[in-house]
Amino acid sequence: MGMKVLVTGGCGYIGSHTSVALLQAGFAVVLFDNLSNSTSAVLGPIARLGGPKVTLVQGDVRQPDDLAQVFADHRFDAVIHFAGLKAVSESVQVPLNYYEHNVSGTLQLLRAMDVAGVRRLVFSSSATVYAEDAACPLNESAALDATNPYGRSKLMCEQLLCDVQAADPRWQVAVLRYFNPVGAHPSGEMGELPIGVPQNLMPMITQATKGLRPHLSIFGDDYPTPDGTAVRDYIHVQDLAAGHVAALAYMAHQDKGLTVNLGTGRGVSVKEMIDTFERVNAVQVPYRWAARRAGDVAVRFADVGLAQQLMGWRAQLSLDEMCRDAWRWQTTGAGAP
Ligand code: NAD
Ligand code: UD1
Repeated sequence: MGMKVLVTGGCGYIGSHTSVALLQAGFAVVLFDNLSNSTSAVLGPIARLGGPKVTLVQGDVRQPDDLAQVFADHRFDAVIHFAGLKAVSESVQVPLNYYEHNVSGTLQLLRAMDVAGVRRLVFSSSATVYAEDAACPLNESAALDATNPYGRSKLMCEQLLCDVQAADPRWQVAVLRYFNPVGAHPSGEMGELPIGVPQNLMPMITQATKGLRPHLSIFGDDYPTPDGTAVRDYIHVQDLAAGHVAALAYMAHQDKGLTVNLGTGRGVSVKEMIDTFERVNAVQVPYRWAARRAGDVAVRFADVGLAQQLMGWRAQLSLDEMCRDAWRWQTTGAGAP
């Protein structure tokens, strides 16, 4: 398409996979990242897998000068905004950091975009913005609420973006609510690099199976689900990446933005995930049963009809592929500590 996209947080887990998808779709890409939760080494795989039209600018979305410089140096057609902090439990400990990176960072980015006249944005939101008691499958008009600073920071950004679009119709914003991103690039060259002890299920499964953790704790065996373990909507990061390209294509053809779920629409229990991981990879996951984790809900999965209807996008990759690619990254990629 010959367009240039600024990808904030582009060196991170979802940003790196999306950047490859953008390059493959013909976009030029400028990654803008402060490297607080990633490394510049990912530039090599991104260029190898996607193509050479990618550069990295080290900068921080909280710093107006960094943003002004990148907008002065490049003429962008759109921005995809991944940069931010994402750990729920950490957000309870250090809420100011979350509001600063996620809310203030988004505010600074919008200001810089406005000054530069770039008003097309794809924003990383989360299924965490839905109220705990909203009925599944969750559709985009379900009640919104958040129970922790991370979730509230995402909700505040969504509201901010809504107000900005209402005030000035030149703005086009695609709010993408991710369900549970897992997996890695099938090449084994890119994936998630969790710092410290992982909080999320898939990196805990791969690290425990590799022997890096003594075992995986299954949080809760008494949920009102078929096997008693909690159900989530896991989506392959490659499908998620394709969803961002679809959102840009939508906004290029329609004169408006959208808010859609990105999930598979299928609920998978913790036990089903472990069983699938063991079967696909011919390994045993060392696990123990444990009490429910505070704050967890029993069942959460997406209604994915709107994303398909508006963008013609739907997730293609199976749970088997999520498990296979996550394990390949853990065992052969740079994900192998
Ligand atoms: P990640 O930590 O791998 O990537 C975020 C990137 O942003 C990192 O490279 C980090 O160095 C960079 N960054 C952080 N603060 C920055 C700042 N102030 N300025 C510039 N760069 C900064 O996370 P991810 O999993 O790729 O998530 C990307 C986005 O998607 C986040 O906004 C996250 O909240 C959202 N999200 C993630 C998930 C998930 O499960 N991974 C689920 C829902 C939503
Ligand atoms: C968590 C966050 C959510 C965030 C999402 C990102 C909480 C309460 N919610 O969601 O805000 O958007 O990550 O992907 O933290 N599990 C285990 N053992 C483990 C880890 C997890 O049994 O070691 C279970 C959990 O109880 C849950 C499921 O696996 O039932 C998925 O957990 P996780 O990957 O943390 O995702 P969410 O809880 O959906």
